[in-house]
Amino acid sequence: MEKKQEKSDLMEKIVSLCKRRGFVFPGSEIYGGLANSWDYGPLGVELKNNIKSYWWKKFVHQRDDMVGIDAALIMNPKVWEASGHLSNFSDPLIECEKCHERFRCDDPHSPEATQEMFDHLTKKHSDVKHLVSSFKLIGENFTKPKQFNLMLKTFLGPAEESVNTVYFRPETAQAMFVDFKNVLTTSRKQVPFGIAQIGKAFRNEITPGNFIFRTREFEQMEIEYFIHESGWQEFFEHWKEQMNEWMREVGINLDLVHEVEISEEDRAFYSKRTIDFEFDFPFGQKELFGLAYRTDYDLSRHQKESGENLAYKDPQTGEEFIPHVIEPTWGVDRAMLAILVSAYQEDGERVYLKLKPSMAPYKVAVFPLLANKPQLVEKAREIYDLLRKDMNVAWDDRGNVGKRYYAQDEIGTPYCITVDFDTLGEKGEELKDTVTVRDRDTAKQERMKIGELKAYLKEKIG
Ligand code: GAP
Repeated sequence: MEKKQEKSDLMEKIVSLCKRRGFVFPGSEIYGGLANSWDYGPLGVELKNNIKSYWWKKFVHQRDDMVGIDAALIMNPKVWEASGHLSNFSDPLIECEKCHERFRCDDPHSPEATQEMFDHLTKKHSDVKHLVSSFKLIGENFTKPKQFNLMLKTFLGPAEESVNTVYFRPETAQAMFVDFKNVLTTSRKQVPFGIAQIGKAFRNEITPGNFIFRTREFEQMEIEYFIHESGWQEFFEHWKEQMNEWMREVGINLDLVHEVEISEEDRAFYSKRTIDFEFDFPFGQKELFGLAYRTDYDLSRHQKESGENLAYKDPQTGEEFIPHVIEPTWGVDRAMLAILVSAYQEDGERVYLKLKPSMAPYKVAVFPLLANKPQLVEKAREIYDLLRKDMNVAWDDRGNVGKRYYAQDEIGTPYCITVDFDTLGEKGEELKDTVTVRDRDTAKQERMKIGELKAYLKEKIG
């Protein structure tokens, strides 16, 4: 019980820190908001960009078997017919007979679902309380589950007619299959190779919630890695290791990550193996990322439906085949939440985000000891301008230095530099042009020559 309370407190603290410090705001707030939509503020966009650029660097730039694309969000609806999304991409939904509120419900008889339905009735419809003893939820108070398609529809062109119906992509993956041939011919890659993409995806989720964990508009980072069927196990293991390595490198606490093997009956019918990486979020163990062996299902479907030949001819053996695919997939928003949960630390009064320097929105903050001493401000400005050429730097001259340290700790800035009277040479030549550099995690300070700062920070931040 106590643990549960602590965890929900942790979630509240993280949500509050995110709003207060400009990581994540409620979307459209001045108009009363829009349920479950969130805007990333000045610090949130930095953290999110750091997540994405580290991913791109590791999986695209640092490998010679990978290339990237950035495809249109809205694709020809035939794509979604071929992929099966139009007929199969749905969640089971039940509806309250009284108020028609809808719930996602995989198994209406599971204890969790029953509890949720029971809570709904007792909280919203107290007049049905007497039913509790002879409780028959499904059929009496709730409809039977029906399938609800999660694709978000819109119309292209001036007429809102069904011929103009299109869909916002529910995953970035399909563009990598649809563009497979173009990428192959223009990049001259050979199988095995992969295509990577980062971008928005949209799903009309029945029950969004838990802050940025499940939203209707979110961002994915996906790889479709094309292989010969014979190598699938080896490449599956390779990508499992790569995903673990990436999580460690961006600061996701691996002690909170669980690799869950998805059983045959729960897997997508075309997948021969799927692993979910689940994370101990404060609201429970939930899916963070996924890894699937999708066989040759996607390219075969697109070949059949488009009429294009999507086979690959091995230049060495001459063998012609439809490549099979290993798909590692990440949600950017869930990555950010897992990083924040992993980084959140309390040390007495002090709250700090122990972010990896590569992820921190600001790499360093620069302060003049006193804001009303022009010489201090001028010197601090010089350092600020010098460092800003290479990294994102914060400036703060409000209040006292202790408060400024705490404010930077809370947003995860790994280093703070203070320009004081020693810097100006007031205590002699020896300390002239030196500053204090304070480390976020140890709260210890050391003195350093201004000329050495850049190299020191570059080494620490990477
Ligand atoms: N192409 C495969 C695919 O899309 P998925 O498991 O449905 O697989 C991949 O989604 C990842 O996208 C998830 O592991 C999760 O990180 C993220 N994701 C999925 N739905 C989401 C939502 N409604 N809100 C935020 N992130 C979501």
